[in-house]
Amino acid sequence: MDQNLLNEICLRQLTLSGVHEGETVAVLSEGAERLDYADAFLYAARRLGASAYHLRLPAPTTASGAWAVGASELAANPQAVEALKQADMLVDLKFLLFSKEQFAIQEAGTRILTAVEPAPLLARLMPTPELRERVEVGAELLGKAGAMRITSPGGTDVTYRLGVYPTMSEYGYTDQPGRWDHWPAAFVFTGGADDGVDGRIVLSPGDVLLPFNTYVQTPVTLTVEQGFITDIRGGLDAELLSSYIRSFDDPRGYGMSHVGWGLDERAHWHGLTQFPGGMGMELRSFYGNVMFSIGPNNELGGPNDTPCHFDIPMRGCSLFLDDEPVVVDGDVVVPEMRPAGRR
Ligand SMILES: [Fe+2]
Repeated sequence: MDQNLLNEICLRQLTLSGVHEGETVAVLSEGAERLDYADAFLYAARRLGASAYHLRLPAPTTASGAWAVGASELAANPQAVEALKQADMLVDLKFLLFSKEQFAIQEAGTRILTAVEPAPLLARLMPTPELRERVEVGAELLGKAGAMRITSPGGTDVTYRLGVYPTMSEYGYTDQPGRWDHWPAAFVFTGGADDGVDGRIVLSPGDVLLPFNTYVQTPVTLTVEQGFITDIRGGLDAELLSSYIRSFDDPRGYGMSHVGWGLDERAHWHGLTQFPGGMGMELRSFYGNVMFSIGPNNELGGPNDTPCHFDIPMRGCSLFLDDEPVVVDGDVVVPEMRPAGRR
């Protein structure tokens, strides 16, 4: 993307994120990645009267070969972590999520925005206060619920016991101390009790496997008992899923993690065909998807910090909170969560 355009969208982002005179914005990158983003955020922060600096970590020396979350070069740089704790806002261009360092920086009151997706996607899914409002309506509903049930025409019927973990919202910008968000994003989630997820999940063709960044081709049946997957059945997709989880040699990789739904009507289900190299934020956000995930729940304050993590947005599901419908056949049915033109 043209640098001027990138500067412009980063200025809109930091404006939404409430950056103002007297604040300090730190930009974190790694190796040679996204240096153009770093320049754009520095420009934007200065334009808004904040002071800004760029902290660049060395490229990792080992390639994990997998999307192992939670590992960060910051772990070897405690002085850098201390510096970032002093900033009002950290723009994370390297993906710190699930790392101890990210949690420590948030606890110090620094708000964090992750921006790692392709620039054209950042521009197209620019966050808005209107979308934030609808996401926050969802978060409030979810936060009050005691149970979630998800069903699908393919045979999914799974129940999550809620109330143990907090509800999180992602709407693509962040203006509150200590809060993290990811640009672009529009979804809500929480986690079931550690032993409180039971039933069957049937992945249907077109459901999305992140981080494989692929669409399911053949049905996959997952049996879930007391918060853990106990059986994975199906064709090639089931074998790939099983093989990947098994490779971590960690029973916690079978744990049930966050669960929720997406709210951005601008996000395309077919997004992976447009941006195959991204992290899949468009797929997490597309309107009416029901997304569950496997692996760590430490982001929600839970004990599972396995590096084995899947996010699986599904189409055409129904989701009920305490038996009240929220998503029906892939459509959001709560008027306040629907776009203004569709109420
Ligand atoms: Fe996730």
